[in-house]
Amino acid sequence: MTAKPYLTGHYTPVADEITATGLTVEGTLPPELSGRLIRNGHNPKPGVTPTHWFKGSGMVHGIRLRDGRAEWYRNRWVHTPALDGAPYLTEHGPDLTASVAGTHVIEHAGRLLALCEANLPFELTPELETVGAHDFGGRLRTAMTAHPKVDPVTGELHFFGSSPVPPFLTYHVADAGGEIIRSVEVPGASAALKHDFGLTRHHVVFIEGNVTFDPAEHSGIPYGWRDEQPARIGLMPRAGDGAGRIRWFSIEPGNLLHVGNAYEDGLGRVVLEGPTVDAEGFRRSWNWWVGAPGRGSEPLSRSFNRRWVVDPAAGTVDEQIIDDLPVEFPTLNEEYLGAEHRYQYAVSFPDDEGYGEYGIVKYDRVTGARRIRRIGDARLPSEAVFVPAAGATGEDDGYLLTVVSDLKQDASQLLVLDASGLDRVATVHLPRRVTAGIHGSWIPDHGPDADADRG
Ligand SMILES: [Fe+2]
Repeated sequence: MTAKPYLTGHYTPVADEITATGLTVEGTLPPELSGRLIRNGHNPKPGVTPTHWFKGSGMVHGIRLRDGRAEWYRNRWVHTPALDGAPYLTEHGPDLTASVAGTHVIEHAGRLLALCEANLPFELTPELETVGAHDFGGRLRTAMTAHPKVDPVTGELHFFGSSPVPPFLTYHVADAGGEIIRSVEVPGASAALKHDFGLTRHHVVFIEGNVTFDPAEHSGIPYGWRDEQPARIGLMPRAGDGAGRIRWFSIEPGNLLHVGNAYEDGLGRVVLEGPTVDAEGFRRSWNWWVGAPGRGSEPLSRSFNRRWVVDPAAGTVDEQIIDDLPVEFPTLNEEYLGAEHRYQYAVSFPDDEGYGEYGIVKYDRVTGARRIRRIGDARLPSEAVFVPAAGATGEDDGYLLTVVSDLKQDASQLLVLDASGLDRVATVHLPRRVTAGIHGSWIPDHGPDADADRG
């Protein structure tokens, strides 16, 4: 049997949990980078071969920076029932606590949460130990997307629960204190896979592509591409009665995994952007995710940035592919989430013909310029997390943090880049190679608990 692509190369799991202190730093870490970069990803236990990349148990890797020093690195599995083999489907229905919790990690209202879209979030301590499933005091009875959005204006956490069986889509809002204040079923949604969504000042933007529930798919993730599944964008007003006023707009076939950003333009239109695959791209990507023949050389094939402009007044959607470079993991200065942004960042991958390469990409949406920071041979960067500089005055006044898997040295580094010119500011040498993974967050120090893990 050929080795699964998600267990080899950059994706080779690490075998244990370690803690290392006093990391070596090259260059100068800006003192305002005081906090933790935490990155999640799939890292099955030794001897375990998951049937799908996304079924691999989640492991978080954390790097603690403070006052120009890199104080520690630690990696921990998210200790969920699934890590010990608990099944998701039981005789009572899905067990939302049987999560691999390996997709993303965020902080909201002082809680650090590891996420996987079919499950409840799992709370972690600042030192990455697992506390347990978090159901918002019993108020969350659906799964939770791995891509919740913090509204930069209100501090609210907006998210949804998606399900392959009714109710297909439930929308939730937690206030800045972490209490769920609204949960509403979204009318008209289907079983289509919904991994991410958009949040503008006045709208929630749902995306349904051609990938939908497929009970015949036996990889453990029961989804597949269907030409007959209508691809749509749902625009739901954020106001309290918005669910009853949702409007669905037809779009071209495709599957979007990640939203770069969504916002309302000066004409009242909703602009949405994100990398999207076509049927062939999805087939090659899925085959990589399950280790089947006919797969691409990278986890994402034919993944190109696409822009949709939804005009609610005219009832139309204008859409186009806006770049020919294969990219994924779009990020931005999250102060601009839901507002018109100038700069977008992403990770670029080589395609099956060798076009493109691993790098960090910066788009200037005003000039149209695209800049690529090459990371080096056999070096795969993770999602570039934007952190604003102290006293930032411009949108790209800050840093990009990315963890590099370096196969040649069998090592990893945290790279700190100046987000303006993509120049290297500092490199933190990590004590082991970090498995290439999925998403992560910068958790800045704030509040009275900031010193909880000192020493
Ligand atoms: Fe994601």
